[in-house]
Amino acid sequence: MHPDCERILISEGEIRARVVEIGRRISSDYAGKELLMIGILKGAMIFLADLVREITVPTQYDFMAVSSYGASSKSSGEVRILKDLEYGVEGRHIIIVEDIVDTGLTLNYLAENLKSRDPASVKICTLLDKPSRRVEPVEIDYNGFVIPDEFVVGYGLDYSDRYRNFPCIMVLSPKVYMNEGE
Ligand code: IMP
Repeated sequence: MHPDCERILISEGEIRARVVEIGRRISSDYAGKELLMIGILKGAMIFLADLVREITVPTQYDFMAVSSYGASSKSSGEVRILKDLEYGVEGRHIIIVEDIVDTGLTLNYLAENLKSRDPASVKICTLLDKPSRRVEPVEIDYNGFVIPDEFVVGYGLDYSDRYRNFPCIMVLSPKVYMNEGE
């Protein structure tokens, strides 16, 4: 295990099994429809890549990037679009794919923003849900795992753009971000 991490929270095998399950559920819920999955960069990239390969209905994917925490473990509460979609979503069935819902500010903003573009439907899929820190309510349609209030990295999630390539979800040791902001 990496010395910056305290412990493994979710193993590679557990993630794999859950991604397969979510993929099956989405495939059955969208039977007969075409789907547009919208991955939120950069964190959801690995989850989206694994998930789309478990979906059996016709699926396209695109990406959006919003301002993130940067080199910080806390949310500033401000959301800005840094990269928008390539095409319009009018009349499309879309699923927003996130790595983690924490305060809910990012997904609330994104869901409202995308709903205003007149899609046929909007659903939310997240790998992780940290409900203890919620500021804005978010209706999650597909959730991988509910996790405790700890800062996690791996499988796309980062701290200061590091650790994204770990194959499992690990709890980051607080000593790594303890002196943040000093
Ligand atoms: P929210 O707007 O507070 O819900 O934040 C969502 C974003 O915060 C996620 O897309 C992540 O980029 C980041 N984030 C929140 N908690 C964690 C964590 O434990 N590890 C890594 N990133 C996190």
